[in-house]
Amino acid sequence: MVIPSGPRISYPATSLIDMMANPFLQNAAVLAYPEYIPQAQALAVQLGLPHHRVSVHKFPDGESRVALPSLAAENIILCRSLNQPNDKLVELMLTCATARGMGVQRILLVAPYLCYMRQDIAFHPGEAISQQIIGRFLSEQVDGVITVDPHLHRIQHLQEAIPGPASVAINSAPALAGFLQSLQQNALLVGPDEESEQWVATIAEQTGLDFIVARKERHGDRDVRIALPEHDYHQRDIVLVDDIASTGRTLAECASLLKQNGAASIQVLVTHALFCEDAYEYLQQAGVDRIWSTDSIHHITNRIALAPLLANSIRQLEI
Ligand code: R5P
Repeated sequence: MVIPSGPRISYPATSLIDMMANPFLQNAAVLAYPEYIPQAQALAVQLGLPHHRVSVHKFPDGESRVALPSLAAENIILCRSLNQPNDKLVELMLTCATARGMGVQRILLVAPYLCYMRQDIAFHPGEAISQQIIGRFLSEQVDGVITVDPHLHRIQHLQEAIPGPASVAINSAPALAGFLQSLQQNALLVGPDEESEQWVATIAEQTGLDFIVARKERHGDRDVRIALPEHDYHQRDIVLVDDIASTGRTLAECASLLKQNGAASIQVLVTHALFCEDAYEYLQQAGVDRIWSTDSIHHITNRIALAPLLANSIRQLEI
């Protein structure tokens, strides 16, 4: 079985530094959705803010009933990753309209995983360019968005997807590198495709580890072909680094090839642990020994807390 080894996740202590300098934070509260309570609480603790729960009820017909707590704060931070997004987008809309009706002035969405970012062009005539449509929708609901490692392939800045000055994309690579340093690994870092180079190169620079980047062709949701560059993989411990594990096929294909090329062990380090359907089991069958992820999405493999990074970014935000 895949062993998510290393210490269980822990959240550093509160820091109140700079909080008073940011007017948004002087009268703010964090709102936590049911599946995101530990992460939202951790963020509130980092920021020294109160946190309250949003109640969400699912009716048998699939509709959502959203109920907000009574709020003393002028500004709110909605903390929730937007994986499995369709219901959550409607619940966000219901939350924002209700909050504004209750007198809330400013709303910041902290969504470590941001949905619909991968469809950034119409690959076929008539296809919705989801990145732009959902980005515009979000910018109409909230006054700012903070996310982590959004999948921006053909655009440079998050503002191109979510218009507005308070759209911030945080790079998790320094935190991933810090985690690897704490394990004192002497591994070869492998990025499974060209897009992963931005993370793997940063981690390599911070840790001093070597890295290589493979090439990927995707032929379908679960049909991925990987080509490894020429390298001596024999008896190497590998850390595969990627932003998203969705079906797990990208990482699994890469892991199988590395095993065939003599790798001694395969670890996976990923920002967003989507792990859809059989992805987790599929990775263990492909020979992955350990998986580590951030707590962007709740999963057994979570080892890296994002709250300190998110809080730093929020303190500096002008909203
Ligand atoms: C895409 O290029 C991303 O960086 C990931 O490699 C991709 O989303 C992983 O998807 P899956 O786990 O379905 O192969």
